[in-house]
Amino acid sequence: MTDLRERIAAELIAARARTALLTDSVDEADLVRQHSPLMSPLVWDLAHIANQEELWLLRQVGGIEPMHPEIDPLYDAFEHPRSERPTLPLLPPAEARAYGHEVRGRVLDLLDRVRFDSASRLEVDGFAFGMIAQHEVQHDETMLITHQLRTGAAVLAEARPPAADASGLPSEVLVPGGPFTMGTSADPWALDNERPAHVVDVPSFYLDTTPVTCGAYLEFIADGGYDSPRWWSTEGWKHRQQAGLVAPLYWSYAGGGQWVRRVFGRTSPVDPAEPVVHVSWYEADAYARWAGRRLPTEAEWEKAARHDPATGESRPYPWGSAPPAAEVANLSQRFLRPAPAGSYPAGAAPCGARQLIGDVWEWTSSDFGPYPGFSAWPYREYSEVFFGPEYKVLRGGSFAVSPVACRSTFRNWDYPVRRQIFAGFRTARSATDSGTRGVRGVVPPQAMEQA
Ligand SMILES: [Fe+2]
Repeated sequence: MTDLRERIAAELIAARARTALLTDSVDEADLVRQHSPLMSPLVWDLAHIANQEELWLLRQVGGIEPMHPEIDPLYDAFEHPRSERPTLPLLPPAEARAYGHEVRGRVLDLLDRVRFDSASRLEVDGFAFGMIAQHEVQHDETMLITHQLRTGAAVLAEARPPAADASGLPSEVLVPGGPFTMGTSADPWALDNERPAHVVDVPSFYLDTTPVTCGAYLEFIADGGYDSPRWWSTEGWKHRQQAGLVAPLYWSYAGGGQWVRRVFGRTSPVDPAEPVVHVSWYEADAYARWAGRRLPTEAEWEKAARHDPATGESRPYPWGSAPPAAEVANLSQRFLRPAPAGSYPAGAAPCGARQLIGDVWEWTSSDFGPYPGFSAWPYREYSEVFFGPEYKVLRGGSFAVSPVACRSTFRNWDYPVRRQIFAGFRTARSATDSGTRGVRGVVPPQAMEQA
């Protein structure tokens, strides 16, 4: 129990340190401003984090009376869409911070005396505490997206991931066919949509060893990928035309064949070795078709990331069961960008694929839906209300995800038009398809003709 209490306290404290970094690095005007209609003002996230912590831990687990029931509706994500949140009478920054501080103090007191009683499902294995730690770091990622959308001088310190040499890596790896265990019934902090564990038979397929790089994506652009409807789905082409897409979000053409991109207030040339980020599902789908390939299904992605053919077991992470350390994955906003393709050999999966965890969220071809035997817990609005064909599943987490909310079973979902999220992709082909490519990510011209 001491271990569990210590782990919970450490996760809550780590989450709050990130929240503080993201909200203390801008001035008050920046905190209350809406930087994009897609996002909340940062000050809304700040008080919403505290409000959810109060609701689930102090009220539900602790049985403590509401502190400020009158503000609950302001911070209910389902009552007010992001676009209308700036018009609400939100707590000003100092009051939002004080509220968060007060809630946290009481939560740490509660943590000292909670019994993790099996009579309360929220308490078993500290689930509600784990859920709230994950909730806060998910908002930290949301706030980092807001930081990337904001204009003005850079405020976040930049650290660059080390260079990597991907030249000796095969462009794709084989994942042998057969059944594997998808989802989990064992991870106590797994969320409802990751449950329960169930067996899925996945035929043999090849998967890109690394996420698709900016260099490979530049080939798609240079080859007229954005101008050829043949590579795009019907809806994707319609969207590409309506939205005027010509390159990933935040890229601009600098002339002379050079693209630059803005990263948290700094502009620099696009790095061909880096995984591409800020592409929609439609763009990822079009690129894959141009490359003579396709996006992996969600089950394929998870099998590549978990299945150990030596034991037949599914692992919590590609490298095994140890929690993500700095040597195996680019997480926690340690760097403000994905690491070069081929990084983190120590984090490779048994199939040889690298960077499945961290760096960029990876679009899959799958719609977001329930696993067989799904039951909503602890509330329908966590995932059940989003099930359906309008959302596509993303896997693996980005450089902006914290370890507590990152594992090989974790499922994210979004609309196929979304580009502000830290999403990239990798491509796949069925083992029965004779997909060939010349250099990494590029189809030779003769293959293009046949595609
Ligand atoms: Fe939330």
